[in-house]
Amino acid sequence: MKSIIIYESTHHGNTKKLVDVIAERHNVDTAGIENAGSVDLSGYDMVGLAAGIAFGKFYSRMEEFAAKIPSGSRVFLLYTCGNPSGGYVKSITRTLESNGVKVVGNYGCKGYDTYGPFKLIGGIAKGHPTEEEILGAVSFYGKISREE
Ligand SMILES: Cc1cc2nc3c(=O)[nH]c(=O)nc-3n(C[C@H](O)[C@H](O)[C@H](O)COP(=O)(O)O)c2cc1C
Repeated sequence: MKSIIIYESTHHGNTKKLVDVIAERHNVDTAGIENAGSVDLSGYDMVGLAAGIAFGKFYSRMEEFAAKIPSGSRVFLLYTCGNPSGGYVKSITRTLESNGVKVVGNYGCKGYDTYGPFKLIGGIAKGHPTEEEILGAVSFYGKISREE
């Protein structure tokens, strides 16, 4: 089982923390979204898409990249967000599934958020992702990679 995680983690590097620890502990390559176009996805059993959330969706470059993933691929989703109210994977999942991509699972947790007015109050979700949340992402990956 060999995977690659494409990440976009521009706000505070919150999502990248999950990606780095998964890659340290499993047979996983990583690439930033800026290099994603030159990656040959056909060499991997699974592709992870990892990003922060903006305006209720994965970051827009990641939403756009998702539309280019070949039919028949197996994808998992990772994200961090200021306020985990749910529904953040809906849009990207719809795009992927409508192109014949199988979404095998998703994992999300809080990530430090200083966007807009939250900056004035010192941000929300300070200290996130925690160690426990990062390890949660590692066990999520362990679980889906065993099942696949
Ligand atoms: C422009 C912008 C919009 C955001 N919109 C949301 C949102 O709709 N819901 C949410 O829970 N968090 C939102 N956030 C917070 C980020 O998703 C959160 O801080 C995330 O952990 C950032 O990940 P990163 O450091 O990997 O980029 C927003 C952040 C930014 C910069």
